Amino acid sequence: MAKHEETPIPCFSSLEAVYGDGSQLEEAKLRFDHLNSKFLQVFGHPPDVFARSPGRVNLIGEHIDYEGYSVLPMAIRQDTIIAIRKNHAQKVLRIANVNDKYTECTYPVDPNQAIDLKNHKWGHYFICGYKGFYEFAKSKGVDMGDAVGLDVIVDGTVPTGSGLSSSAAFVCSATIAIMAAFDVNFPKKEIAQLTCECERHIGTQSGGMDQAISVMAKTGFAELIDFNPIRATDVQLPAGGTFVIAHSLAESQKAVTAATNYNNRVVECRLASIVLGIKLGMKQQDAISNVKTLSDVEGLCVSFANSRGSSDPVIAVKELLKDKPYTTEEIEAITGESLQSIFKNSPSSLDVLKAAKHFKLHHRAAHVYSEAKRVHAFKDAVSSDLSDEDKLKKLGELMNESHYSCSVLYECSCPELEELVKICRDNDALGARLTGAGWGGCAVALVKEATVPQFILNLKEKFYQSRIDKGVISKNDLGLYVFASKPSSGAAIFKF
Ligand code: GLA
Repeated sequence: MAKHEETPIPCFSSLEAVYGDGSQLEEAKLRFDHLNSKFLQVFGHPPDVFARSPGRVNLIGEHIDYEGYSVLPMAIRQDTIIAIRKNHAQKVLRIANVNDKYTECTYPVDPNQAIDLKNHKWGHYFICGYKGFYEFAKSKGVDMGDAVGLDVIVDGTVPTGSGLSSSAAFVCSATIAIMAAFDVNFPKKEIAQLTCECERHIGTQSGGMDQAISVMAKTGFAELIDFNPIRATDVQLPAGGTFVIAHSLAESQKAVTAATNYNNRVVECRLASIVLGIKLGMKQQDAISNVKTLSDVEGLCVSFANSRGSSDPVIAVKELLKDKPYTTEEIEAITGESLQSIFKNSPSSLDVLKAAKHFKLHHRAAHVYSEAKRVHAFKDAVSSDLSDEDKLKKLGELMNESHYSCSVLYECSCPELEELVKICRDNDALGARLTGAGWGGCAVALVKEATVPQFILNLKEKFYQSRIDKGVISKNDLGLYVFASKPSSGAAIFKF
């Protein structure tokens, strides 16, 4: 049998295969019916095909995918559904949304068009998929003929700015919808790689976690995702525990804040790895040309640690990178080359350099190496012969350690997330941490299944009530902001 990641995106003629047979199916039927009738109303004809791709919650392994390390997310039930139809009469991409908050966007059909990053629009994410798909199809020798118009309507239920990967759900469903409209399909791992590259068109130097899980998820399993090459290994979570997702109500705008937050950390990690490489004996030019991520110098760090009787790469970080932030001049004295020149081919990294005052190499590298270890400890605990209860306890501890590291070493938390994580722990969560890029968005808590309703009630009372009173959210919307989640299924195409 072909490995899961080698199989193409499944194509179904009914909703049950993805949405089961309960209330989720009923909700899905309503959404698909609505999409269909809206499509008719806006474009005057029905769609050819639909694609859907889910959001995700990352259980452990934060900000390490772009450093080459494995992560452990699961798909959630919230997804983006796209209805699409080729339009030979109009050479334009028309992208509408069922939610009136998102006004219709139009773009030219040119797949080489530049995305106007200074003028951020929701439709840009579709164009990421469009550009990426054409590049990919070309590399595969697919004859795309003359570019045709596309009519598109989007329906997303993954809350935006929540750290639950609404952007990946959108980019993946867009790419897969375009692919299905052109009647081609490819192995999931290639789509995961392609969609990850697609999203970089928006200007964030993201890793591949969100797209990989959105494309490769399976109902009932979290997945250990490895990179280079992309691979997914099923992880059956222990019985008796449930993951509760709770929004801090601070919006995390990854693309908008990239230069000071997300991309800043990617640049800091690259600088940390180059400096470590040089301090561990590499020639300056070799390190600059060949060292891209902390995983590239892990071997050197481990050899260094071996000489100190340990195998922990963090030993090298502690001894070789100073605890205090580095100035540009200090780093350039080590690299022998200016940072401007090192990053000359990456406009989004140059934006980081422009905005940064200094670089915290020690803290960022210590986070990455320790978080990478926690992912494997989490996976090992799940497959150990501990009792389910002890497994859950261990997973909770690892989640707490991960949060500490994200908060203190990686500094990607925020006051609202700190408050929320503390409330989760004070209310008997086995563990709680921020999830996704951070700087806002959601926390994920591991809770004993039997206590989930009470836990959610406590969060409502202790975290959300004051925000309802202040009018930040409406009481009726609470279910959108705090909910229990089971591992859901990955991307799919529907042809009815
Ligand atoms: C975002 C990125 C991912 C990953 C997380 C942090 O979601 O898209 O690739 O880096 O942040 O773990």
